[in-house]
Amino acid sequence: MAGTTLQPLLPAPRGPVSAAVCEAVVSAKATASLPDAPVADADPFGDDLQSALLVLYELHYRGFAEVSDDREWDPDLLTIRGRIEHRFLDALRDRIGQVPALDDQIDRLLADDPDDTGASGYLRDHGSWSQMQDYFVHRSIYQLKESDPYIWLVPRLRAWAKAGVVAVSFDEFGGGRGDHVHAELFRELLRAADLRPDYLAYVDQVPAEALAAANLPSVFALHRRWRGAAVGHFVGTEVSTGPGAKRLVDALDRLGAPGECRLFYSEHVLADAVHEQVLRHDVVAQLVEHDPTLADDIAFGIAALSTVEDDLSARLFASWNGASWDGAADQSPGAGAGDRG
Ligand SMILES: [Fe+2]
Ligand SMILES: [Fe+2]
Repeated sequence: MAGTTLQPLLPAPRGPVSAAVCEAVVSAKATASLPDAPVADADPFGDDLQSALLVLYELHYRGFAEVSDDREWDPDLLTIRGRIEHRFLDALRDRIGQVPALDDQIDRLLADDPDDTGASGYLRDHGSWSQMQDYFVHRSIYQLKESDPYIWLVPRLRAWAKAGVVAVSFDEFGGGRGDHVHAELFRELLRAADLRPDYLAYVDQVPAEALAAANLPSVFALHRRWRGAAVGHFVGTEVSTGPGAKRLVDALDRLGAPGECRLFYSEHVLADAVHEQVLRHDVVAQLVEHDPTLADDIAFGIAALSTVEDDLSARLFASWNGASWDGAADQSPGAGAGDRG
């Protein structure tokens, strides 16, 4: 695939909506079929809609080798994107119900319940190297553009909130060093783990839950209307990443993993302790002080993040404990790429 180019190839369609979108991004003539795409009938968290949404969002990031850059602002593509986004956001609202208060959610994330540590807790205590590779593969869709969505926030904020987002982003984007960009550290992690480091290399292998986790920050950050939720997604990510990264460092040490794999997570243990403080005090507190109406959206962003991350964890647990998974036959690092995806 596009190992030597900057742009990935389009993913394989996963149903009628993603098939219509993949045709329409390549050819403007194919947009005629978009109004008939069965968006309303598709599972809002399922393969077809999440895959279609990922393709539409990627037009704003790296694009695709077969797609003209001019397709980014095609009104018909934006229309179907809006229809899918409405389905996704409505379904998230239904799932979440009464959104817990902002302070309660941040307190809960800070408490880092030791009994509810998700995939990172499992990997620390029980994970095999092939399960760790599997985790990297599922994370790769978002991690290779880590923090890119949040940069859309900058023109929508001012004063302390703007300064805080930029300060954290400066670290996420390498602090002035290309080889320290967190997405580049993840590329090195993939390479060291005998996995493919190309952008979207595993897009056809991962389930809808991994696509939804990558799509969620984009649905918030590409809409000014959802700037509060984008901030919520950012702060929720930074608050929860530090403890999760510590568990993964412990897992990688136990497995004797390559240093590049360890570095990505050890970097986050240190950095996110600071990022979490900046985002809570400079960004969230200042934003709510100046515009209290945003508090509910920030809270929704955190709750939505928890929802899609819990789905992804559940999916990983199910595959690791399923009959088809041979994680019990523990492989050593370098024994071969996890081709399960
Ligand atoms: Fe990061
Ligand atoms: Fe961070």
